[in-house]
Amino acid sequence: MNWFENWFDSNYYHILYKNRNTKEAVVLIDNIVKLISPPKNALFLDLGCGTGRHSIHLNKKGFCVHGVDLSKKSLMQAKQHENKTLSFHLKDMRQFCNKKKYDVIINLFTSFGYFDKDSDNKKVFQNIEASLKHNGYFVIDFFNSNKVVRDLKKKEQKQIDNIIFKINRRHDNKFVYKDIYITDKKNNYTFTEKVRLINKEQFINYSKNLNIKLIDIFGDYSLNKYNNELSDRLIMIFQKNND
Ligand SMILES: C[S@@+](CC[C@H](N)C(=O)[O-])C[C@H]1O[C@@H](n2cnc3c(N)ncnc32)[C@H](O)[C@@H]1O
Repeated sequence: MNWFENWFDSNYYHILYKNRNTKEAVVLIDNIVKLISPPKNALFLDLGCGTGRHSIHLNKKGFCVHGVDLSKKSLMQAKQHENKTLSFHLKDMRQFCNKKKYDVIINLFTSFGYFDKDSDNKKVFQNIEASLKHNGYFVIDFFNSNKVVRDLKKKEQKQIDNIIFKINRRHDNKFVYKDIYITDKKNNYTFTEKVRLINKEQFINYSKNLNIKLIDIFGDYSLNKYNNELSDRLIMIFQKNND
């Protein structure tokens, strides 16, 4: 089993990241919607939707949303919010494709770069391009790999709900790894997150020979300008050209 199928489906992932909450999702979604002003009846795809925090807020704003994820547990939570215009689906983003269907596709909070083979990342970009309507937008929110490597906090310990998380971080020239050692009562568990260090140029490269073009780039959830050294996030807006 791949690390991302295991870790994101575990309760410990949700406990460790529970501070990444609705409030944060609301800020980002409100700013994205303000920026691209999608039509009233626009259809969104939230690729790697998790428990659906961004999808649910988009739907509250009146948009139709499909959420797609690999984690059954996350989807079970998300599905409690389903309605006529909001639905969640168990799919792998490498296989998922819904031809020319979406006005906007979002991939938020580093839901990309998990695969061993870089060709899988390219495959996801191909699926996104094929799934977008003409002039549709693709918004990806990833970490700024320059900053992640430079400021890597090698060791960290957290206690949440009486569970101890010891986190060791390391990187090589391709990936950043987070080894997570968990002690819950007397039981110990270990998970490793492994995310490819993708920079702006590599993302542009994934879009090469596809019908999507980078039109804007931001460095945080308030959508301030991106700075290669200082920004925490790398938020890229692509638009599909007419084909
Ligand atoms: C860091 S979480 C972010 C979840 C959500 N976007 C959020 O901000 O709350 C990444 C999500 O991507 C999902 N994921 C990982 N690999 C996937 C794949 N191959 N296809 C679809 N979803 C995937 C995980 O299950 C997880 O829910």
